[in-house]
Amino acid sequence: MALISVMSAKGSPGATTSAMLFAALWPRESVLVDADPMGGDVALRLPSDEGTPLRTDRGVLSLMPLARRGLAADVVLEHTQIAQGGQRVLTGLGGPEQAQAVGSLWDEIGRALGELPGADVIADVGQAYSRSTHLPLLKRSHTVICVVRPQVTGIVHARERLGALRQALIGPDGQSPAVGFVVVHDVQDQRETDSTARALLHAHDWLVDFGSLAEDPPAARMFDGLPVRRPERTMLVRSGREVVARVHSTVPSPHIYPAATDHLPPSADVPAKPARKGLRRRGKADSGPAPEGVTVPPFESQSDAAVDAAIEAAMTAAPEPSQPPPPAPAVGQGETRQSRRTASRLPTVQANPAPEPTHEPAPPPESATPADQPPAPPSGSRRLRKSSS
Ligand SMILES: Nc1ncnc2c1ncn2[C@@H]1O[C@H](COP(=O)(O)OP(=O)(O)OP(=O)(O)O)[C@@H](O)[C@H]1O
Ligand SMILES: [Mg+2]
Repeated sequence: MALISVMSAKGSPGATTSAMLFAALWPRESVLVDADPMGGDVALRLPSDEGTPLRTDRGVLSLMPLARRGLAADVVLEHTQIAQGGQRVLTGLGGPEQAQAVGSLWDEIGRALGELPGADVIADVGQAYSRSTHLPLLKRSHTVICVVRPQVTGIVHARERLGALRQALIGPDGQSPAVGFVVVHDVQDQRETDSTARALLHAHDWLVDFGSLAEDPPAARMFDGLPVRRPERTMLVRSGREVVARVHSTVPSPHIYPAATDHLPPSADVPAKPARKGLRRRGKADSGPAPEGVTVPPFESQSDAAVDAAIEAAMTAAPEPSQPPPPAPAVGQGETRQSRRTASRLPTVQANPAPEPTHEPAPPPESATPADQPPAPPSGSRRLRKSSS
């Protein structure tokens, strides 16, 4: 299904946090892919569903040797793990050395991720520019979203990087992913957010304005594995739902469209749904060659021997988990767990009896949309009213 890449231009505006949020709130099944060439963060931030560390030797790194021969969807899914909260995750690389070594394989990884049956992929691609090692992955994306902070430096770097990137993303068929931005904004300063959007759109009228995410440090802690009480009521999640609705409206719909209610939690007297067929193990025949017209030549051509050597070095250097890792989750296992959890796959859903000292918004009024409803349709308004929390 769809591959959505979340990037930054410079600095650390919140690409990883935003990608984790989008995946958690995505209205269809999703796989969060840590594809930051500078080194994966997700495995460092979240534990597994079992409470053990997510394995870094099972993810993009372990897929690389297989990518040379073509990746079947079931193989990709077998290399994913389930993170705290039920999110399916493909953990990232150790750093730029590994990313560089396997540069020619990003295209095959991107192709496979964009064709996963029954799940959309949200990829944290970290900082990206027109000559990034992993540019082929971005080219395979349906949508590329740049996370921007509303400071002059953030705006200028985003404007320049996106301008150059746009040209580099155009494929041989003339097609390019939809490219847009999200502003991480201070809810107290709406003008700054609006002027950021205006400045970017003025420079590049092809950009898509996907809205804004609240700058909400207490809530962002949930993506560091820290407890956040009632995360679904935080400004971060509420703003995230609006952005996700906008992004989701731009991606292609599959022929078989899972009902949005599939992510609603089963109520106490309703049994959990079984895992859907979409993520069950499938035969290799499901993953054929790239469709005609979308073949993208490798960005960096390397000989097989060179790639072999690089992969072997990367695999040898992969850190061993400190304790025996849990068995890889069976395909479909995550959905069963997830269906017993919440409407989203927010990582911190366990109750924290101690009240948070700050930030906890008041309960929503009776008329407010419950947090476990599907995302509201795009409203066009970028403003978040604190009083509605
Ligand atoms: N919406 C947000 N509200 C509050 N804090 C945020 C938000 N998004 C990100 N942050 C914080 O900003 C810091 C950087 O975030 P993050 O790691 O997601 O950025 P990044 O762009 O992925 O950075 P890097 O390029 O280093 O990987 C983190 O401390 C994170 O908690
Ligand atoms: Mg990051």
